[in-house]
Amino acid sequence: MRYVVTGAAGFIGSNLAETLTAAGHEVVGVDCFTDYYDPAEKEENARGLDVRRLDLAEDELDLDGVDGVFHLAAQAGVRSFGDVFPVYVRRNLLATHRVLEAAAAAGVRVVFASSSSVYGEAESYPTHEDATPQPISPYGITKLGCEQLARAYAVGFGLDAVALRYFTVYGPRQRPDMFFRRVCDALLEGGSFEIYGTGDQSRSFTEVGDAVAATIAAMERAPAGAVYNVGGGDEASMLEAIALLERISGRTLDVSHVGAAKGDVRRTKADVSRICEALGWEARTSLSDGLTRMWSWASGRVAAGRAPTNPAARRRPPSTPKRSRRSISAATGA
Ligand SMILES: NC(=O)c1ccc[n+]([C@@H]2O[C@H](COP(=O)([O-])OP(=O)(O)OC[C@H]3O[C@@H](n4cnc5c(N)ncnc54)[C@H](O)[C@@H]3O)[C@@H](O)[C@H]2O)c1
Repeated sequence: MRYVVTGAAGFIGSNLAETLTAAGHEVVGVDCFTDYYDPAEKEENARGLDVRRLDLAEDELDLDGVDGVFHLAAQAGVRSFGDVFPVYVRRNLLATHRVLEAAAAAGVRVVFASSSSVYGEAESYPTHEDATPQPISPYGITKLGCEQLARAYAVGFGLDAVALRYFTVYGPRQRPDMFFRRVCDALLEGGSFEIYGTGDQSRSFTEVGDAVAATIAAMERAPAGAVYNVGGGDEASMLEAIALLERISGRTLDVSHVGAAKGDVRRTKADVSRICEALGWEARTSLSDGLTRMWSWASGRVAAGRAPTNPAARRRPPSTPKRSRRSISAATGA
């Protein structure tokens, strides 16, 4: 099959593109290498992949001869209040609108990366897909908006779209602003770690290999219009997860607490019965095995002289690039 993967230089997208390529598919990656975190990391992620530099919010996406689009490009991160909101609107809503337009016109299936953030402080746990979405971050609102946009294109133009609500994905190449990555980097630097809030907040952590398997299964077998939770089986609090990483690494951290971040929910816990029944998918990787793999990746980068990153470069406020219009066929690989 010939697939387009958007966000292919990012954390989940690069893992997905690699797995699809290894399975014998032809993969065209698309990414504009935003500077939300160090673009050098994205270059590293994209090595060996065919990733074309396109800004989906303005460049043309030509889907001729494509069998499916995995749409993962986005501005991620729940700390999305304030001045950065227009960037979330652009990279999530406007970019997704253009992807959906192109896919509807070409009659191509889209598997879209949504988020557990659409649930906000969920009305019940484990949270089923039918729970009322009530996001508490602008990011979650844009993700819910993208889901609804896909639904409108399905009703109006017969678009074949599937939405996956990922629950906190971790593993090799995790974004440097994300919790486990920050813990790994702090352990590697031998320093201290600031945790937002009490550390009792908990997550359904999902190993990236499991998330990739669910994403491919959705493209291959999900009915049109499906919405699925993609969540790992192990729920852990932030403090429990730090203790686990300390055991795995054989190092300790000096943990201090700073105020809870706006937009961060207290708990996520996925009900995955729907995707399990429909696609036979469930997470296979225990948190302990997944964190061992992630630690090995993170410490391997340090051994190779590549990380941890300069803390200032770890999370940059999103900025809007000024670029000229291009199309997928004219774009160069990276
Ligand atoms: N990582 C998680 O735990 C998690 C959880 C829920 C949902 N998601 C969703 O999964 C997807 C992938 O997340 P990730 O953690 O890999 O993030 P990431 O930031 O590593 O990857 C996203 C990629 O999209 C690219 N991008 C952004 N705007 C673009 C545009 N306009 N045109 C082209 N490329 C653009 C970025 O350069 C980046 O490489 C996102 O849609 C995110 O919202 C992630």
